[in-house]
Amino acid sequence: MGINKKTLAITLFFQLLSSVACFSRSDFTSTFLFGTATSSYQIEGAYLEGNKSLSNWDVFTHLPGKIKDGRTGDIADDHYHRYMEDISLMHSLGVNSYRFSMSWSRILPRGRFGDVNPVGIKFYNRIIDSLLIKGIQPFVTLNHFDVPQELEDRYGSWLSPQIREDFGHLAEVCFKEFGDRVKFWTTFNEPNLFVKFSYAFGKYPPGRCSEPYANCTTGDSEVEPYIAAHNIILSHATAVDIYRKNYQVKQGGSIGIVITSKWYEPLTNSTADCLATQRALSFEGPWILDPILLGDYPSEMHEVLGSRLPIFTYEEKKLLLNKLDFIGINHYSTNYVMDCMLSSCDLDGYMRDALIATTGYKDGVLIGEPTALPTYYAVPYGIEKMVRYIMERYNNVPMYITENGYAQGSSGAFTKELINDTERIKFMHSYLTFLSAAISQGADVRGYFSWSLLDNFEWAFGYTVRFGLFHVDYKTQRRTPKLSAKWYKKFLSGKKLQLRTSTQNNEI
Ligand SMILES: *[C@@H]1O[C@H](CO)[C@@H](O)[C@H](O)[C@H]1NC(C)=O
Ligand SMILES: *[C@@H]1O[C@H](CO)[C@@H](O)[C@H](O)[C@H]1NC(C)=O
Ligand SMILES: *[C@@H]1O[C@H](CO)[C@@H](O)[C@H](O)[C@H]1NC(C)=O
Ligand SMILES: *[C@@H]1O[C@H](CO)[C@@H](O)[C@H](O)[C@H]1NC(C)=O
Repeated sequence: MGINKKTLAITLFFQLLSSVACFSRSDFTSTFLFGTATSSYQIEGAYLEGNKSLSNWDVFTHLPGKIKDGRTGDIADDHYHRYMEDISLMHSLGVNSYRFSMSWSRILPRGRFGDVNPVGIKFYNRIIDSLLIKGIQPFVTLNHFDVPQELEDRYGSWLSPQIREDFGHLAEVCFKEFGDRVKFWTTFNEPNLFVKFSYAFGKYPPGRCSEPYANCTTGDSEVEPYIAAHNIILSHATAVDIYRKNYQVKQGGSIGIVITSKWYEPLTNSTADCLATQRALSFEGPWILDPILLGDYPSEMHEVLGSRLPIFTYEEKKLLLNKLDFIGINHYSTNYVMDCMLSSCDLDGYMRDALIATTGYKDGVLIGEPTALPTYYAVPYGIEKMVRYIMERYNNVPMYITENGYAQGSSGAFTKELINDTERIKFMHSYLTFLSAAISQGADVRGYFSWSLLDNFEWAFGYTVRFGLFHVDYKTQRRTPKLSAKWYKKFLSGKKLQLRTSTQNNEI
């Protein structure tokens, strides 16, 4: 295609978008964080380098049959060796922040049973310093699913209260080593999701579960996810307590936790479906956030789960209270909800404990565009409703959208369709439009991180889905900007993305 025709096609595309809504970077405050997000296991590779120990994910991905395409994060995006190039890519986008996680196995290969690993500290120091030189704020996740395998082998990691001391130790090492420069910390990424995949469905390490949830050699899907989450919530409080007592005043940063949640709409306006929808929402973010901000698990969880739900002691409740400065929200999609408590129906796989069924269809019409992940439809208004729900439930505690992004399916080959990701642009544009609507209604949202900077290892899906603004050719590790990267850069440069009066601005 000639350059003029290509430019014309892109111009027409942006004209199409402008009919959706007109907005720009200036609809968000100048201090609003715009960034991209990644996590250590999904991008770093170098799994045996730098005196790192094996993590639970290193061990799990090497077991046969665990990952869809049979691949591992041994090399992933080779970010461990290419971090300077990747920081340059971020810089080229014009982002002012970067959300990434630190590998526990690099920093404390043996948890509290061994020493701090200076090679790991040096690696993250180089990343932090290189980011700051480019004016990019590090936004650090202490735990994004990966744990040293030794903690799994010694005491069952999240199933044991012992993990609280280990996590507190990791947090303290990180505050001490990096807190002079890192001003944004989160303790956990998506605990409400990963405990279910780890302990109810056996899809994440340690691969425990029981029937009827799934088939594993050992586990108890009915109770273990709730025990793990309980220990995670208390581990979070332990880390925040250490930060507040010993570091926060001196270092001047803030600390939060990241939950993930779909938005849920009742399928019908029956009371049962409306209550089921409230229940669905409670079983996602509030499971983790209510104990910290409202003093206990949501009442819907108590009602359904009874004694399956652990109890916080008086002392623990005191430790937990208000132990966060902000909430991180990972949000991708919206589903319809049907009640399965009063009438029998096929329980949803992922949300079965909430006694609901979910669907993407109402009267034969799909709720939004499908993406490469089953049940993940693009429903832009969901982000506005999600943010308003969190804002109202928690009295407008500061919020960051810590993940939002679009999944492409991939045969693995580099194709023009993968690079010309107009669906992702449409996704980001429309989600950001609805996010700005929530903000104009008073929601205290302070940042947005696009998942993800790079195509990467998508957990149980392996490399079969691609979330990156940059395409990665896993054979050569070549990074190529997708059209969405160019769109994000253009958006961040402050140019209006509307084309009614002029078409010249819109070349990319
Ligand atoms: C990208 O895809 C869109 C929509 O499918 C199409 O209209 C456009 O021509 C494509 N652009 C390029 C440069 O291939
Ligand atoms: C890794 O640890 C070993 C022994 O603990 C030490 O001899 C070696 O120097 C370390 N490697 C690096 C790169 O620091
Ligand atoms: C578990 O395995 C048994 C025997 O193969 C099978 O009948 C059952 O449906 C499986 N359960 C689940 C939840 O996959
Ligand atoms: C429920 O929905 C139906 C059709 O979808 C509508 O006719 C009815 O008025 C609604 N009822 C209420 C109470 O909103």
